[in-house]
Amino acid sequence: MKVNFNKIPLSGREVEYIKDAIASGHLQGDGHFLKKCEKSMREITGAKAALATTSCTSALDMAALLCDIKPGDEVIIPTFTFVSSVNSFVLRGAKPVFCDIRSDTLNIDETKIPRLITERTKAVVPVHYAGVACEMDEILKLAKKSGIKVVEDAAQGFCAYYRGRHLGTIGEMGALSFHGTKNVIAGECGALLCNDESLTDRANFIREKGTNRIHFVEGKIDKYTWVDYGSSYIPSELVTAFLCAQLEIAHKLTADRIAAWNYYFDRLRPAERTGCLRLACIPTECRHNAHIFFILPEDEKTTKSLSDFLKSREISTAQHYAPLHLCPMAKKLGCKIEPLPVAEKAAKTMLRLPIYSSITPDEQDWVVESIGSFFGIDL
Ligand SMILES: Cc1ncc(COP(=O)(O)O)c(C=O)c1O
Repeated sequence: MKVNFNKIPLSGREVEYIKDAIASGHLQGDGHFLKKCEKSMREITGAKAALATTSCTSALDMAALLCDIKPGDEVIIPTFTFVSSVNSFVLRGAKPVFCDIRSDTLNIDETKIPRLITERTKAVVPVHYAGVACEMDEILKLAKKSGIKVVEDAAQGFCAYYRGRHLGTIGEMGALSFHGTKNVIAGECGALLCNDESLTDRANFIREKGTNRIHFVEGKIDKYTWVDYGSSYIPSELVTAFLCAQLEIAHKLTADRIAAWNYYFDRLRPAERTGCLRLACIPTECRHNAHIFFILPEDEKTTKSLSDFLKSREISTAQHYAPLHLCPMAKKLGCKIEPLPVAEKAAKTMLRLPIYSSITPDEQDWVVESIGSFFGIDL
């Protein structure tokens, strides 16, 4: 049986809404669907302000501008993350300071942050890997003590919570992704959540090419002008029309993924007990969104052989990030390269299994039984 790694979810209303957007004759980014999406995002996340953006990368670019990052500032980032978590800050001249991750959640190891803080540290970027929250209480405490900003990379964190608070709403700002591979999608799209209301005006200026066009649209001024840094970060109505249809079923998509995640977890627990692999740990304060289901075999060779074996059975799996501190760009930037062993091991051994909202128990059984066959255990 062929099992895809991912299948995009559809609510069935995407095309209808895109047709509505076209019929309205208004396709640029400040129309009906943008407003509707942002209202829905505020309701789901509880954020004070939610600004839809062309991607999570754009939202992180905006966050770096809002943090007033200047050349020479330092930003603490987990090494096990996507390039956008770091590039947005590097583009403003920041020096990335890479932190190792925890072996249970693969999130930034909060105990390793204090020794990385210097008088030049401007921000810390907790990345909520797989939609499981970082240890935010500790990170907020450290940030407050050192006077640094917290920008949450919640690209994978839509509809996920830490102590009841939606991811991306805990630090000063948070960035969400609605990329085609995420739980709730619009192809290429994202959002910036501003939890400090004093940032919202500036965020709107930055999103609209550094102009105060928002005040013009709201009828507050007759003419808009150049008031800040900025770029083209607002998504078109075609994109937000699609996203609107997805946001309507966000909770259902999450519930379906959670059911699939739990099914894998229960069925793979016996494999974990034999010691042939480890499963993710979800801390009790986290309500995750089942964005990723990963397993951790003991070594790189086993992971590679398992992935080849599953491929021979038409089951697609994937590893994930190359640790950023080992990438060519980190060397080019002259970053301090010291071993970050937990991330380096996770990058070599971690394997993501197929998961999507419409995955069937038959497909999951085939994946689980195949893993059992590989290890010679009856699952
Ligand atoms: C942790 C993380 N941050 C940022 C991004 C960038 O998201 P986008 O593709 O919406 O720009 C991704 C994308 O996968 C991601 O995984």
